[in-house]
Amino acid sequence: MANPSLLILAGDGIGPEVMAEVKKIIGWFGTRRGVTFDVSEDLVGGCAYDAHGTPLTDATMAKAQEVDAVLLGAVGGPKYDSLDFSVKPERGLLRLRKEMDLYANLRPAQCFDALADFSSLKKDVVAGLDIMIVRELTSGVYFGEPRGIFTEGNERVGINTQRYTESEIARVSRSAFELARKRNNKVCSMEKANVMESGVLWRQVVQEVHDREYPDVELSHMYADAGAMQLTRWPKQFDVIVTDNLFGDLLSDLAAMLTGSLGMLPSASLGAPMANGRPKALYEPVHGSAPDIAGQGKANPIACILSFAMALRYSFDMGEDATRVEKAVEKVLADGLRTADLMGPEGGSPVSTSAMGDAIIAALDASL
Ligand code: NAI
Ligand code: MG
Repeated sequence: MANPSLLILAGDGIGPEVMAEVKKIIGWFGTRRGVTFDVSEDLVGGCAYDAHGTPLTDATMAKAQEVDAVLLGAVGGPKYDSLDFSVKPERGLLRLRKEMDLYANLRPAQCFDALADFSSLKKDVVAGLDIMIVRELTSGVYFGEPRGIFTEGNERVGINTQRYTESEIARVSRSAFELARKRNNKVCSMEKANVMESGVLWRQVVQEVHDREYPDVELSHMYADAGAMQLTRWPKQFDVIVTDNLFGDLLSDLAAMLTGSLGMLPSASLGAPMANGRPKALYEPVHGSAPDIAGQGKANPIACILSFAMALRYSFDMGEDATRVEKAVEKVLADGLRTADLMGPEGGSPVSTSAMGDAIIAALDASL
């Protein structure tokens, strides 16, 4: 079988700094695990604009469509703030998401015990937490028509439309059920079927897809507002949560912050299965290019490293190796290593981006 292929788009600001640590880990898999990735690298965002006058060239777009997975750092920065909207760095990322049709956005909320004190919740509520929110990303109220600000009589009215087709609901629910099979076989679907027709359809379609194609997965339904309460009261009752674009935007931010810093949060965006059965996939940290700390060796590489671990699990069926990377991260945190963003108010001596990466490599070595 062909080697797994990866396109690395490190981007701007701290993107290349955190990606350098991921490359060490990719190299480690080659030398220590005999898994060689065919890695190509290209430009996205501001650096692509500087080189080509566009934040994403057609050639890079075409390559992204061919590879098994795209790994992205971050885009943007103050240098590009005055650019025309059509060539802003973010447009490169939006084009990737749109043309790859990445409709399922995966946001894990995973708590490493060593950081449980970081949470705003009690330690025993979050310790060991590991849930995955699947947010529908390409439809719903952010895209529905009609939309706009209109005048009715003598006042203005602002309109957005929540709209979901059956096939849009079915495909994102399949992504959630497939994930559940790689995790703990449990999905909770959230909507507001009590007050929204689109929610009624959502609930029906998720149930139908389940009954027809995934009867082995445990499925429950919850109103999204109750879901928000349950997420803060006892988050460990959940494993995979699937929800629409709007509720997913809120619930994924809420769940992520149960567990700590922006520098720790990975994400994946998945689309339809390709000919080889793998979903189209883009993996990236949740954080941006952090211009305030770029070039100083201060960035936490863990969000990007955990994004690569997600690629191992969800694109390459290397779940055990994904766990190995996550355990290595857990180990270095338990040993007390902290980048500056993970320092409490009492301070301490933070380690650099590359020292954190090297320590994770050492923990990987020790895992063999
Ligand atoms: P940001 O996520 O870049 O930074 C927010 C704060 O968190 C900053 O204080 C930063 O230093 C810190 N931070 C972020 N990641 C960190 C890490 N790995 N380690 C340590 N500290 C970290 O968001 P901000 O400042 O709003 O945006 C900066 C630029 O990034 C803007 O140009 C924005 O458009 C872009 N951006 C890009 C995203 C992407 O590429 N997906 C997402 C969000 C913002
Ligand atoms: Mg948000």
